[in-house]
Amino acid sequence: MSSQLFWKGFLLTGLLWLAPAAGMAATDRLSVETQECIGCHAAMPGIVSQWEDSAHWNAGVGCYECHKAEQGDADAFDHNGFSIAIIVSPRDCGQCHPKETMEQEASHHAKAGDILNTQDGILGQTIGGEPAVAVGCRQCHGSIVKVNADGSLDTNTWPNTGIGRVNPDGSKGTCSACHTRHRFSKEQARKPETCGKCHLGPDHPQKEVYEESKHGILYRAFEDDLNMDKPKWVAGEDYYDAPTCATCHMSATVNQPVTHDVGTRLSWNLRAPISKRTEGWEKKLEDMQDVCSACHGSPFVEGFYKQLDSFVGLYNDKFAIPAKEIRDLLMEKEVISKGNFDDPIDWTYWELWHHEGRRARHGAAMSGPDYAWWHGIYDVAKHFYTELLPQSQEACEKAGKPEVYAEIIAKYIDGRKEHEWYTKGFDPKRVEEMKAYYQKRYQQDVK
Ligand code: HEC
Ligand code: HEC
Ligand code: HEC
Ligand code: HEC
Ligand code: HEC
Ligand code: HEC
Ligand code: HEC
Ligand code: HEC
Repeated sequence: MSSQLFWKGFLLTGLLWLAPAAGMAATDRLSVETQECIGCHAAMPGIVSQWEDSAHWNAGVGCYECHKAEQGDADAFDHNGFSIAIIVSPRDCGQCHPKETMEQEASHHAKAGDILNTQDGILGQTIGGEPAVAVGCRQCHGSIVKVNADGSLDTNTWPNTGIGRVNPDGSKGTCSACHTRHRFSKEQARKPETCGKCHLGPDHPQKEVYEESKHGILYRAFEDDLNMDKPKWVAGEDYYDAPTCATCHMSATVNQPVTHDVGTRLSWNLRAPISKRTEGWEKKLEDMQDVCSACHGSPFVEGFYKQLDSFVGLYNDKFAIPAKEIRDLLMEKEVISKGNFDDPIDWTYWELWHHEGRRARHGAAMSGPDYAWWHGIYDVAKHFYTELLPQSQEACEKAGKPEVYAEIIAKYIDGRKEHEWYTKGFDPKRVEEMKAYYQKRYQQDVK
């Protein structure tokens, strides 16, 4: 889009906002170009009907207003006398929605297509394979859309509505990742199912955590009372039964406007191997607590964060930092290779932080106790003690360097109160108490 068109867009939005108020018939509000599109596209009735149910139809924003393209645009093509493009990028939407687009561009969502040179990237492309990346990773993260010489889109890279898609005009992201075409509704985007296309599974189960949380239970119990179809949606004013993903991460409060930068209320990075505070975390924490304060008192919210912060500390200090340092030491001493995923311990370490370690932290952050413990720290601990350590020992013995394992035990296990049980056993008094408990409860001997 040229800058001239950009400004025309601003003007147009102004006019379009006035139009419905003037009580004009819908067809009068539609441009002649759009009327031609619809005339012919009645043969694709689904698209036209979806759009007719949208706020855009009501405001007179039609097919042509979104799909029109400059002759020189990378993906422009001639279509029955019009120059159009299939992709309506965030930059195109931004002509009329500059605030949302700017925030979206500044967010981690817009950067999600940049995954090639990561450990996940190696896993996907080399250990998996390209076709799996196309229907897997990129459907969530976004593809780099390539345009063929004739202006059509390269089908290896499109269809795709990944959250950080790199578009032919250089802009990043897809608004329709959350505002599915051609309704482009905010009601849909407020629902947790929308985020749940991507935020689920073994390595980031936010959707499952939410479902088991009291917030998710309340959402299902009172979904119809939440006024999700209303223009204004402020927690505590327009609804109060339950928060959704959007409530906490995006929507307005009495003190904050809607944001399209989903990172502005996060005080931790909970997906890194070792969790760290985010930049400017104090302000971000305050903004999230402001959301909670629509429905909770501050001692409750502060108590919640105290529990979260200590939990993150436990994960970091007891497991994540030692696990990383142990693997680093094995590489440094040439017990294992420096390559990724070619030693069993590489996989163990990967799942420890990337799967169960994340599940645990996400469970704690969003009140999903089963994820914090059984799918979380329970698995972290199990793999730390029954895989990472034995695999280290085996690798050291195989490499003829048992002294490296002795160094690990001295430094990380025997030297630390929280791990001592592994080599020294439990306190005998506690073992006796445990046995007595089972005897009384189940009339069985548990050793
Ligand atoms: C003369 C009939 C006609 C008119 C006028 C028309 N279209 Fe189409 N359009 C079609 C048909 C038929 C297809 C489906 C082509 C196919 O399935 O191979 C299509 C496909 C498309 C596609 C998808 C392109 C692709 O390659 O997948 C877009 C986007 C589109 N039209 C938008 C528009 C817009 C915007 C207008 C108005 C500016 C418009 N069309 C006007 C008939 C028309
Ligand atoms: C608010 C902007 C907007 C309006 C209005 C709009 N579109 Fe689209 N359209 C999009 C977006 C966004 C996509 C998704 C392209 C992508 O990112 O892959 C799309 C995709 C399409 C596609 C190709 C995808 C497919 O499912 O085949 C067709 C065809 C299409 N639009 C036709 C139309 C027609 C016809 C109208 C008018 C009735 C219309 N569009 C109105 C934004 C719009
Ligand atoms: C030509 C200007 C224009 C373009 C281009 C445009 N929009 Fe809109 N959009 C509007 C207007 C006007 C409204 C109605 C505002 C209102 O009702 O307050 C609107 C409303 C919306 C809404 C609110 C819908 C609801 O449920 O109330 C969303 C979401 C939205 N647009 C997303 C998009 C996306 C995504 C694109 C690009 C694919 C896009 N728009 C392109 C002008 C535009
Ligand atoms: C189901 C959707 C989905 C699939 C499939 C998927 N991811 Fe992700 N990925 C996500 C989400 C959501 C996050 C953010 C998790 C969080 O914040 O907890 C993420 C996070 C990441 C991160 C961390 C980014 C950061 O800022 O720390 C990388 C790297 C990554 N994914 C790469 C990949 C690769 C490579 C593949 C395929 C081998 C893949 N992902 C498959 C949804 C997906
Ligand atoms: C991660 C999901 C997500 C993405 C991606 C997304 N939106 Fe939204 N959008 C939302 C949610 C949620 C709301 C509703 C906020 C509320 O009012 O509760 C919303 C609301 C809107 C509104 C209505 C604003 C208002 O104040 O009424 C517009 C316009 C809009 N989005 C445009 C866009 C555009 C343009 C893009 C792409 C640049 C985009 N959105 C990308 C989730 C998303
Ligand atoms: C199409 C897939 C997709 C959808 C839909 C999606 N996300 Fe994301 N989200 C991602 C990916 C991928 C990342 C990781 C981006 C990265 O860091 O590279 C992410 C990251 C995030 C983050 C972390 C941001 C940060 O700054 O660290 C939050 C919070 C988030 N998403 C919330 C949401 C919410 C809320 C919704 C729904 C309203 C949503 N997402 C919808 C894919 C998606
Ligand atoms: C009650 C509020 C609330 C709800 C509802 C909620 N979240 Fe969160 N979310 C949080 C809090 C609190 C954090 C941690 C904030 C911090 O870092 O200080 C968080 C963290 C996250 C992160 C960051 C993870 C990382 O790797 O750093 C993502 C992504 C996310 N949430 C997505 C979602 C999705 C998707 C949903 C819905 C399925 C959802 N959230 C529902 C409050 C909520
Ligand atoms: C729209 C209202 C609303 C918002 C906003 C909200 N909550 Fe809640 N929350 C509730 C309700 C209602 C309950 C159920 C109370 C009960 O257990 O009886 C609840 C329960 C909880 C629980 C108890 C979980 C359990 O299993 O007992 C925690 C912890 C919690 N919320 C934390 C938060 C945090 C942190 C935020 C902000 C990031 C937040 N909530 C935002 C309404 C809300």
